[in-house]
Amino acid sequence: NADPRAELKRQAAIEAADMVKDGMVVGLGSGSTSAFMIEELGRRWADGLRFSAIPTSERSAEQARSHGIRLVTFATHPQIDIDIDGADEVERGSLNLIKGLGGALFREKIVAAAARKFVVVVDDSKLVDRLGARVPVPVEVANFGWTSTARQLEALGAKITQRLDRGGNVFVTDGGNMILDCHFGPIADSASLQRQLEQIVGVIETGLFIGRTSEVIVATADGLQRLGV
Ligand code: A5P
Repeated sequence: NADPRAELKRQAAIEAADMVKDGMVVGLGSGSTSAFMIEELGRRWADGLRFSAIPTSERSAEQARSHGIRLVTFATHPQIDIDIDGADEVERGSLNLIKGLGGALFREKIVAAAARKFVVVVDDSKLVDRLGARVPVPVEVANFGWTSTARQLEALGAKITQRLDRGGNVFVTDGGNMILDCHFGPIADSASLQRQLEQIVGVIETGLFIGRTSEVIVATADGLQRLGV
């Protein structure tokens, strides 16, 4: 495997999969760490574990389906028992997150918001003292008028890059929108920044997850750590 962090991600993901019990409604996150978690749940499904799952992306839905995992929707299952997802940055003190480097932030936040327990799985390279230190805040915006939305984001101090896909075309989210990556640098008050961002018309959702984390499972070279709030 080309990613040296992969083994750590896998260990954290398996630890989280262990929290899924028979009969639960489970949120399935997105990204490479979540993919390990879905793979492990697929293994357990094959061994007879039975649960219902709501995926946070088309990609995770496809992977879950390939294992035969039962997918449901909010219409029949409005309350999620546990949501397990990765993150791009985890702030040590607060356990607030930046998510969305993979592009699934909007569905991810809807699922996290509906979950009784939101468990985040990461390797220790994702832990930071201040959010924004290394990665931008991904902001999903409406295509209509996006340059105006971008100007308002810039006015909050961000340097903006429009997300492109691997082919160099404008990245399209599962919701059909675009993502503006907002480089703020280290963010002193992420809760207040989130409030400012959500005031901007045209902003659909941001990758700042504030006060949503129940627990973080961190894989380090010396073993697993669990951080709670
Ligand atoms: C997807 O949009 C993101 O929020 C992911 O949860 C995040 O990018 C973590 O991905 P990895 O597990 O691949 O690092």
